[in-house]
Amino acid sequence: MNFPNAPQLRGMEAFPPPIKAVHRARIVNPQGPNDCDYHEDGGLAVRADGTVAAVGDFTLLAVAFADRYEVIDETKHGERPTIIPGMNDLHVHWVQNEVRGRFRNSLMPWLEEHIWPEEHRYADAQLADARAQTFFDELARHGTTVAAVYSSVHESALRAAFQHAAGRMVIGNVIMTSDFPPYLKQDPEEALAMTDRFAEEFGGSYAVTPRFAPSCSAEVLKAAGRIAKQRNVWVQTHLSENHDGTEHDEVELVRRLFPDAKSYTDVYARAGLLGRHTIMAHVIHASDEELDVLAQTGTCVAHCPTSNEALGSGRMPVERIRERGILYALGSDVGAGPSLSMLHVMQAYNRVHAGHADVSETEALYRGTLAGAEILGVDRVAGNLNRDKEATFAVLGSPGTRAYANPNHLLAEIFAGSQADLEAIVRKTYIAGRRVF
Ligand code: GUN
Ligand code: ZN
Repeated sequence: MNFPNAPQLRGMEAFPPPIKAVHRARIVNPQGPNDCDYHEDGGLAVRADGTVAAVGDFTLLAVAFADRYEVIDETKHGERPTIIPGMNDLHVHWVQNEVRGRFRNSLMPWLEEHIWPEEHRYADAQLADARAQTFFDELARHGTTVAAVYSSVHESALRAAFQHAAGRMVIGNVIMTSDFPPYLKQDPEEALAMTDRFAEEFGGSYAVTPRFAPSCSAEVLKAAGRIAKQRNVWVQTHLSENHDGTEHDEVELVRRLFPDAKSYTDVYARAGLLGRHTIMAHVIHASDEELDVLAQTGTCVAHCPTSNEALGSGRMPVERIRERGILYALGSDVGAGPSLSMLHVMQAYNRVHAGHADVSETEALYRGTLAGAEILGVDRVAGNLNRDKEATFAVLGSPGTRAYANPNHLLAEIFAGSQADLEAIVRKTYIAGRRVF
């Protein structure tokens, strides 16, 4: 028997961990933006150590592994579910989960009205702990296992988040040292000292998170950039989200606050905040010159189509981002985004870019799975279900039992569901072979 994913004995691995179970279902396994493996009657063999032993057609795996494993037949409930890799949410504010979907058709008034008062509540350590548990349980229920997460300004909220997070997650406390609003304003020295301590403590799971340029002075941004470099940790912030020409225009506000900078992007460039370990959210109204700077510095982008729709922020110019080879992956941006479901975000990705750029269902799945793992540098172990990676996946209820020759058709039927359908479609979630939902 010889097929690509068959387990083979290799050198020192003559006795790999035994296989614990084989999951039988449809399997959609993204390999790149335009490349996706699909098994209509698939098998995913998971080892006792939680890694993938093999993925392929179930009948072939059944022969290869004879009687030595337990078969978890996901099809037994009268439908044929679909296994996909655990999904990525590359931009989510966990402290906004309770107020998600409270739209106001512009960024700044929405922050004032709904977000500042809500985040202020996370000063309460008990509230933060209880809500962190709820939030990270909800992420698991939505099949999200890789994430870049914003916390509030508060130390206890950040600690609660790290305590309850499961999967591959990068988390940061927002830095807010401007008078914006006064009741969340931090003392710059204290905020930077806390950031530095956290960067040292949490290392590669930590993101220095100046909220956005208007929240910090040029000096604070520069100090934040220095900490990120010295501690070799992530950077995440917002860039060019709102440019609506009203008195609340974010891009204009940045122009007024930083008159020496050439552009919004240049504010961050001057602070040393750009680079391969930086994730910029939104990037909707950036000029060609700004995008060139992001490309040259290797800066990555979190694309949040549901949030951009909800706040009327505009369409991210995906074709200009792609042209320059800028890495990007999808994010929910809850609470501006209405749902934690990354399937709902993928659905929006296909809808908003149709007619502007080539998009497909399997590309959307790639942007919501492997692309995020690649950006966060965890694709050796996460992002898809290739052999030897962690068996981290979601089992989705399927729209029916008919056969699909092409995974785009299967995903199109899944994406045809409403927000509520997509929020209910995840039946199980596994992280490294262990069921977490
Ligand atoms: N810009 C600054 N803070 C925020 C936030 O919390 N959400 C969004 N969408 N944009 C922001
Ligand atoms: Zn955001």
